[in-house]
Amino acid sequence: GAPVKVNLSKLEPGQQIVVEWRGKPVFVVRRTPDMLQEIREVDSKVRDPDSDKSEQPDYAKNEYRSIKDEYLIVVGLCTHLGCSPKYLPEVKPMEFDSDWKGGYHCPCHGSKFDLAGRVYKSVPAPTNLVVPPYSYESDMVIIIG
Ligand code: FES
Repeated sequence: GAPVKVNLSKLEPGQQIVVEWRGKPVFVVRRTPDMLQEIREVDSKVRDPDSDKSEQPDYAKNEYRSIKDEYLIVVGLCTHLGCSPKYLPEVKPMEFDSDWKGGYHCPCHGSKFDLAGRVYKSVPAPTNLVVPPYSYESDMVIIIG
């Protein structure tokens, strides 16, 4: 598959767009400072906070799992059995459980991920969402693949 170019300049704070790369959905999210704060707050609730086991390039092996803190790029397939998790950046605790601060929820078997695609403890998915290879062509343009 060919690399895919994504222009980030039209993304509103908090917005997600979905692009296709090698037949897979890729989620691209512009995270707000509040969203980054929420990621830091759930370190103890996710299975692999530093993403040691999960799949991502070296440059995304950090707490936010990204090159630039503001932009998340992850393959939009659940690491359990491959359903597409739903983007729910702001959930009210009662809707799911009080532990979860929002991020991704898989409709198939209920796996939950944070706003860095890190998997919560005690859900079926074994690992964090996969970060695809990508690079910044310029300040506002990324190339996936
Ligand atoms: Fe997502 Fe099973 S495929 S929880």
